[in-house]
Amino acid sequence: MTWPDIDETDAGDAILSTERLNLRPHRLSDAPFMMQLNSDPEVVRYTGNAAFADEAEARAVVERLAKQYATWRMGRFVVLDRRTGEKLGWCGLRWWEETEVADLGYRFFRKHWGAGYATESSRACIRYAFEDLGLPRLIATVMPENAASIRVLEKLGFHRTGPASIEGMPALGFELRRA
Ligand SMILES: CC(C)(COP(=O)(O)OP(=O)(O)OC[C@H]1O[C@@H](n2cnc3c(N)ncnc32)[C@H](O)[C@@H]1OP(=O)(O)O)[C@@H](O)C(=O)NCCC(=O)NCCS
Repeated sequence: MTWPDIDETDAGDAILSTERLNLRPHRLSDAPFMMQLNSDPEVVRYTGNAAFADEAEARAVVERLAKQYATWRMGRFVVLDRRTGEKLGWCGLRWWEETEVADLGYRFFRKHWGAGYATESSRACIRYAFEDLGLPRLIATVMPENAASIRVLEKLGFHRTGPASIEGMPALGFELRRA
């Protein structure tokens, strides 16, 4: 795999764009950004994740995400401000081979919460999943205390399914079927 070295504001490798955002696959150079994102305990509170121990761990995750995109044409995408190129967080799909289903996930720096970025980027990912990849449905898994995330799923039209788990902790399952 090659890692393009272009300026972050360059929309050249954005695979999805919205009014305010560009979404692109991860590059190895995103490891420090991912480390910074997970270093806020409030950001990872309901995710089942912890802060990365070191940059090597963040690089391994970024590499896995990039490979997932290369293999399946889906993955968690870096979400950038379309105007400034600032990395705001990530949003995207994860393919679960065993169950052959993709889940939707998102995570943003706290200073950007409430601006509608999770909803806006998710809408682009949902369109991509249904129209470009032809997937019949998407799932999402949320801890019951994560009211903001549940609200995002409701706005996107997801429906509750049944109990689920995140890293062994009780969670709520959601589903969205292609119309
Ligand atoms: C969940 C998260 C991605 C939402 O991102 P965001 O860009 O702020 O989401 P949006 O602005 O698109 O929408 C948030 C909605 O939740 C609502 N909301 C926020 N906090 C809330 C709370 N405590 N209770 C109820 N609703 C809440 C907002 O008002 C908004 O709804 P509205 O548009 O009807 O007003 C963000 O909070 C985050 O990164 N959290 C940490 C990571 C995480 O938990 N990811 C999800 C794991 S399942």
